[in-house]
Amino acid sequence: MRTDSPPVIRLEDYRPTDYLIDTVDLDFNLDPNVTKVTALLSLRPNPLGRPNAPLVLDGDELLLNDLRLDGTPLDANAYTASPQGLTLHAPPQRPFELRIETSVNPTANTKLMGLFRSNGIYCTQCEAEGFRRITYFLDRPDVLSVYTTRIEAAVEEAPLLLGNGNRADAGLMPGTGRHFVVWHDPHPKPAYLFAIVGGRLDTVSEVYTTQSGRRVDIAIHVEQGKRERATYALDALARSMRWDERVFGREYDLDVFNVVAVSDFNMGAMENKGLNIFNDKYVLASQDTATDSDYANIEAVIAHEYFHNWTGNRITCRDWFQLCLKEGLTVFRDHEFSADERSRPVKRIADVRTLRAAQFVEDAGPLAHPVRPNRYREINNFYTATVYEKGAEVVRMLKTMLGDDVFRKGMDLYFERFDGTAATIEDFLSCFAEASGRSLDHFSEWYAQAGTPILTASGFYDEVSRTYRLDLRQSTPPTPGQPEKKPLVMPIAMGLVGEGGRDLPLVTDNDVALHDGVLIFDEAATSVTFHNVTEKPVPSLLRGFSAPVRYDIDLSDDELLVLFSADSDPFNQWQAVQTVLIRQLIKGTEAVKTGRSLPPSDRLVRALAEFTAATAEQDAAFAAQVLTLPTESDIAREIGRDVDPDAILSARRAMKRQLSEALLPTLERLHIKLASSDAFSPDASSAGRRALRNAGLDLIAAADPERGEQLAAERYAAADNMTDRMAALATLALIPGAGREDALADFAARFAHDPLIMDKWLALQAMIPEPQTLDRVKGLMQHPIFTLTNPNRARALIGSFAMGNPTQFNRIDGAGFDLLADVVLKLDPLNPQVAARLLTAFRTWRMLEPGRRLKAEAALKRVAAAGNLSPDVTDIAARSLG
Ligand code: PHE
Ligand code: ZN
Repeated sequence: MRTDSPPVIRLEDYRPTDYLIDTVDLDFNLDPNVTKVTALLSLRPNPLGRPNAPLVLDGDELLLNDLRLDGTPLDANAYTASPQGLTLHAPPQRPFELRIETSVNPTANTKLMGLFRSNGIYCTQCEAEGFRRITYFLDRPDVLSVYTTRIEAAVEEAPLLLGNGNRADAGLMPGTGRHFVVWHDPHPKPAYLFAIVGGRLDTVSEVYTTQSGRRVDIAIHVEQGKRERATYALDALARSMRWDERVFGREYDLDVFNVVAVSDFNMGAMENKGLNIFNDKYVLASQDTATDSDYANIEAVIAHEYFHNWTGNRITCRDWFQLCLKEGLTVFRDHEFSADERSRPVKRIADVRTLRAAQFVEDAGPLAHPVRPNRYREINNFYTATVYEKGAEVVRMLKTMLGDDVFRKGMDLYFERFDGTAATIEDFLSCFAEASGRSLDHFSEWYAQAGTPILTASGFYDEVSRTYRLDLRQSTPPTPGQPEKKPLVMPIAMGLVGEGGRDLPLVTDNDVALHDGVLIFDEAATSVTFHNVTEKPVPSLLRGFSAPVRYDIDLSDDELLVLFSADSDPFNQWQAVQTVLIRQLIKGTEAVKTGRSLPPSDRLVRALAEFTAATAEQDAAFAAQVLTLPTESDIAREIGRDVDPDAILSARRAMKRQLSEALLPTLERLHIKLASSDAFSPDASSAGRRALRNAGLDLIAAADPERGEQLAAERYAAADNMTDRMAALATLALIPGAGREDALADFAARFAHDPLIMDKWLALQAMIPEPQTLDRVKGLMQHPIFTLTNPNRARALIGSFAMGNPTQFNRIDGAGFDLLADVVLKLDPLNPQVAARLLTAFRTWRMLEPGRRLKAEAALKRVAAAGNLSPDVTDIAARSLG
């Protein structure tokens, strides 16, 4: 293992900087290979810092051309410069000006951090620590400055030049073929929110009028020729702006809002002030190119980045430990937005599926960390499901506990008090404590303690006294560095369900914390007695998934099926049937290991048949969720140890076939009813009908592959939209033979010119659960469309294989692990962030049965032992093995 692993940064070591930077004047002379950057920084000693301290500026792969203090070149012994930093040994103890000239090579920048080029478009990425790849700086989020940026470029190469803030000036530079634009951002901001863009782009735009009547030019800029595919994103942007005014009272604060889509981007998108830069996957959409889930993702990411303007930009983070302050809160806000724009229960189900698939898995493995970590070696590795998704759940719990009005009061207070500052989680919580008059000290443990709590419940009905007693217990398994766990504060939204789905009144003793059906459970164990319970109820706990916990209740399958058919909470209806399915799938997996197969219970089949016949059509999107079985990973997670992915796949296949056979007549009827001749619309209810029809197709194919193949081939050929085309292709992909290969070839021929669409084709093939897939993936790595240096391509092929194909990644011969290790080692020198992200696929290795576990460990050790690893990959490898 490499010895020079990056140093640990600790939350408790935080101290303010010794100097502040009030204004930054930047000048970019854009050139493909040698871009000159001149930075004029006005600095002064920080009254909260140490007097006479050296000035230590961050740098990363920089070349210093020139350095002046108050206009005069500095003496060589007054400073030390390297590509990784610049130190002034004895800076003036008064305001002073530093002029720094550096050069960078945007074309050679494969890390996609700092200034780089994507398909010839100049763009930047500065979060978390990319600004130091542009100029020497105090590159940390608590240094807020007002930026003015002049960008100069060849007109031919970059007719469009964008920066943060408002446009202040522009002009041609006669005789040079060059021009310039000056941007001024009046809002002080940390360097990670800085951005520029230069290139030839197509634009869609409109004028948005804010609630107070200010006019804002909002625009989406995309690669040439893709203008029509940007209109949905523009519409989503305007809806996001309106929603934030209505729901949080937040108005936009500049004259322009620009969104630029590029094809090479490490993450989803970035909230740079007034100039969001997006992975084009989250912008471009049309009927023929985007699936319904693409549309939903675009809407969510556009909203997310826009909402950061207040939660992230106006109020930013004091340090990177506070990342969840902006991310968890902003994810919560985008979830709420999508819930309001679409179906709330269906959105909740989808979000909980993601939470479990990504965050619960992370929390149960070697990479587990608190929502607010207290140490890190590489901050890039903490843009995780825990910080984002669990961070959002913690905010949701606050709202559930305090109620809508108090929550809004707390948010208002937060915006009012911390606007223009770099804040902490403590600051955030203090606003809700003040608004509610309640202490949130115990609640704040959610930010500090890692691991998914397990909530256990059992109930006892006493007919004679008409009481119902609910016994609750909670515990959290140990996680790395946290062997002992405390009880947490859990808001449990609940009901007692009586005959016909009626919610019985909840009458408790006075000392029980229960308001509006939300029980606050904050001890290791408790008992709650409900009075005047006139019939034996079925408890419905964690309605709407009111706390991010695993949940184990001693209900029979029959009782769960009562909730499925009758609970007034649609989330718990879905949850109940999923729980029954998971139980039966786990039993089925055990049976497979002894060569047997367990059919789904008659009652389950009957309940699903009734649901499908009676209610499916009324809420198609919801029904599609119900009819989508738990995934192989869902089952593996519930089994938790000694996992045999092949046994899980067989059990799931068997169960799916038997269920579908039983449901076949109903599914066929539904199929016909849902056939639509309406013109395509991406709205949620049309999408829901497509989802249900395609879920039905998938089940029909499981019951009767021949019929399924025929239906899928027809749908593939006749599809007038990408959702149906991809769903049909996915169904075909599971049926080996010429039909599938023909369809795959047809798809490749149709969309060969469009890498973003070909990503779907790569991903689909990478996820085929067959032994031949390994060779298929290796073959696809040689396909002309594939390149390891484009993050979307790498994630589509390698990421889908490693994270979306449990049986083949976890092959018993270890060849899947070896493939990932090879790719990570090859990619690391080019793009360490994406390499490290791919490597996190190993996070489940300890859950595997011993044979596979050994192979996974060997592959991980091979990565860890390689020379010259990036800090990113070093950190993930070390923690995964730790
Ligand atoms: N801050 C971005 C978001 O969540 C994510 C991001 C992080 C993008 C780091 C790029 C680099 O909206
Ligand atoms: Zn974000």
